[in-house]
Order: sequence, then C-alpha cells, then structure tokens
Amino acid sequence: MFNIQQTKSGAHARRVRMAETRPTPGKKLAHPSARGPRIFADTATIADIKPLFEAGIISGVTTNPTLMKKAGANSWSHATEIARQLIELVAPNPVNLELTELTEKEMVAQALQFAQWGENVVIKVPVGGYAAVDKSYDPHTGLKVIRALWEKDIKTNATLVFSSTQALWAANAGACYISPFLGRLADYAYKNDHPERAPGNSLYWIEDHKNSNNDQNVSNSEYVACGGDRKDIGPRLIQEISAIFTNYDIHTEILAASFRNFSQLTECLLAGADILTVPANILQKVCDHPLTEAGMATFFEDSKAFENNDRKALEQ
Ligand code: G3P
Repeated sequence: MFNIQQTKSGAHARRVRMAETRPTPGKKLAHPSARGPRIFADTATIADIKPLFEAGIISGVTTNPTLMKKAGANSWSHATEIARQLIELVAPNPVNLELTELTEKEMVAQALQFAQWGENVVIKVPVGGYAAVDKSYDPHTGLKVIRALWEKDIKTNATLVFSSTQALWAANAGACYISPFLGRLADYAYKNDHPERAPGNSLYWIEDHKNSNNDQNVSNSEYVACGGDRKDIGPRLIQEISAIFTNYDIHTEILAASFRNFSQLTECLLAGADILTVPANILQKVCDHPLTEAGMATFFEDSKAFENNDRKALEQ
C-alpha cells in the first residue's frame, strides 16, 4: 500500500504558486480548501453528472469516445448533443472532450470546432500512439497538436499518459493538464509481470527485451516500475511527475485518471495529484463507511429518545 511515509511535501511549493481552486474574494469566511484538489466526474452520462454537480461533489467532467458510447451516443450528432449539454450544465467548469481525428491538421480543425461550443471546453489530445494506429502517422502528432492549440490559447489535456517523460513533453508542448491512467498501469503490471522478477518489472523491461543491452529504451523509471507493489504503480508515477513538475515549477495540472477503487483516490492525493477524475459509481459512495452508518443509526435512535421524553412530558 502506497503510504504516507513515501510521500514528500514538495508538491506544496508548486501548488502555492498556482491559482486557487476555490477562490472566495470578498467572503468573510475564506474557503478552507482554497487550494484543495479539484474532483471531476469521469463519465459522459448526464443523469449521473447532474446530481453530483448540483451537490458540489464535482467541478468538471472528463469524457472520451468510450464514455460517450456508454452514455448512449450512437452517432456523431448524438455525441455532439451530449457534449453540448455537458458544456452547458457545468459551465464555467471544464468539460474535457477527446479528439478522434489522427492527423495534425484534422485534429486542430476538430479542436477548433469543439472549442466553439463553450469557453469551458478542454481538448483531450492522446499524447502518442499514432504510429500504432497506422505506421505512416507521425508519432509526435499529439505534441504538435498541443503546441498548436496552446498558440491559439486553447486548453489541452494530454491523455493516455503512462510515464513521466510523456508528462514532461506534454507540459513543455503547452498542455494545461496531463492524465496519467493509474488503473490501467496497475492492470498492465498485474497481467504482464514475471513473478520471478521484482513487481512492476514489465513496465521497466518492456523495451529492454528487444534491446538486450540498451537500457536507454526502458519505458518507465525503475522507481515507478519496480519500486514496490504492483497496485502502487499509479501513485508512484504520479509522485514522480509531481516531483519533476515541482522541481521546475511546471503549472500543468496532474489529472489522475482511470480509478478502480477508493484507496487509489487517497493514494493519488498523497502522491501529489492536482485533480482526480473519478467514475460515477465511486463518486456516489464517497461519503459511505460502515462505521458512519452504524454511528448515524445510533445517533438517530438516541435523538428519538429525547423527542419521546419531551412528548411524554407534554402529555402529563
Ligand atoms: O479518464 C480516463 C479514463 O476514462 C480511463 O479509464 O477505466 O477506461 O481505464 P479506464
């Protein structure tokens, strides 16, 4: 379990130079979590988002084509309709919409179209993987698009981030947010690790298999890949990115994504994430705890006893 001893307070130095997340100018009682992390909903399903937004549980939304499909979109016009409803519902808070085009020119054109739908639109740009779709595609497309959109003052979120080098290059290209997918990292490590080696080694050795004496091509640092339990790989990556961003006072926000359970939320906050984007099924239960329920039942029963005694006194 990623624990408090593994964390450093370094991220604080960067956070205090960034804008407040809950500014309350002119308010006598300043917000006690003025620099606290923001929580986004990782879903496009409006029926889930609306109550969470109205309750102040979330202050932003992240979507992707898979989440749009899950929300019921079965055509571009339907997906557009859902996106526009989300933009209106949570404005001025951010709604992240992912590009689906795969070449720089078409991606920038699609981003400009999305950006017209509202000032709160953030464009999600896959950081890499283009050559995996088609070998002829430029592997640097994502970074070029992020740079082009930064030049046009359009906010981007570099998505599908699995290493701190991807995070740094996206930040240097001008991304306002980077999204490390911690759940998928842990899933990958559980599935691909060799039991005879240290936990997480699959992420360290992934390229080394092909280049037996060339450690320059490893995908992750040894700390992230081999530094402990498989399930802690995501928080270790976030801690590494946070340390690098703090070293250089990079204000790109670390938007931790791909959550599987509650403990990962805590671990990512300890590791220095700026924002958590969380699936609705987890968000709906953030206030639950068996001991809270037991305590409430007892308090309710005991308060009833006062009422009963008062009623009896009035009746006499
Ligand atoms: O925001 C990214 C997220 O939707 C990916 O989550 O569960 O598909 O790994 P998952």
